[in-house]
Amino acid sequence: MRWGLLVAGLWVAGCGGSGATPAADYGEELFQDSRLSESQFNSFSCATCHATTATPEPGRMNAGYALHNVASRPNWWGGYETRLLDAVNFCYVNFMRGVTPLAPEDPKSRALYEYLVRLSPDPEAAALPLTVVKDITDVPRGDIGRGGEVYRAACQTCHGELHTGKGRIAANASVLPEVVGDYDALFPGVPKQLVVIEKVRHGQFFGVGGNMPPYSREALSDADLGALLTYLGL
Ligand code: HEC
Ligand code: HEC
Repeated sequence: MRWGLLVAGLWVAGCGGSGATPAADYGEELFQDSRLSESQFNSFSCATCHATTATPEPGRMNAGYALHNVASRPNWWGGYETRLLDAVNFCYVNFMRGVTPLAPEDPKSRALYEYLVRLSPDPEAAALPLTVVKDITDVPRGDIGRGGEVYRAACQTCHGELHTGKGRIAANASVLPEVVGDYDALFPGVPKQLVVIEKVRHGQFFGVGGNMPPYSREALSDADLGALLTYLGL
């Protein structure tokens, strides 16, 4: 559950106590700043995909879990990561286009660590499940009103308004649902809606490119995905 022995040691020796330290405040700033990544092509901060509150933020459905108590969890990414810094670097490299992973002794890593510790008052927090949907199949369509709510809570921050992309944070985020107009040429014989489901469920993984995060079943249910597809007219 430690960042790495070095950082944990420094943290204990250097700060010793609890509460707000300047380093944790710096970590909070880094958490909210897309410039944490040196890539000019990145427009995401940690806060784009992670809430930090104990209870869900109304109107927001993030791909990543809320990081309340994150430093106390025994493992991360559904058990795939057993070091907190590795769990963070997975995001940093794959989603924020960080060129080299954050090193344990980097002052930025240490500050982020202290911020995550400050978010973790409960020393007994459990690991969280992560169900990656492996095989893509169609889902039953749902209510269009609910679909609009899901779009605004899950997709709009990055993709902007439907049809125009207005307000999107990522200049490279496709305009929805217009992007599917190319799919017959790009993915001949594959129903458009399956490509969209694949993108939402896998993000950049399983050979799909880009830097969009994947949505696990915990992050987005099939029922909400079905409602979203109705809203997208798919
Ligand atoms: C583009 C979206 C995105 C960005 C940006 C992002 N993450 Fe993540 N993160 C995810 C997703 C998706 C997961 C997998 C679901 C989960 O475990 O929360 C994840 C998982 C994690 C986990 C493991 C949580 C757990 O208990 O399994 C940690 C820790 C984490 N991220 C920290 C960070 C930090 C710190 C940053 C900024 C340096 C960051 N993430 C940036 C999407 C993102
Ligand atoms: C953290 C930002 C972020 C969030 C949240 C996000 N996307 Fe994306 N999405 C992107 C980016 C950036 C791209 C273009 C790069 C890529 O393909 O990964 C993209 C691409 C796409 C594409 C086009 C893939 C292609 O190449 O044709 C689809 C479809 C899509 N997103 C659907 C969604 C849906 C539906 C949601 C909400 C459930 C969503 N996205 C949430 C950032 C995001």
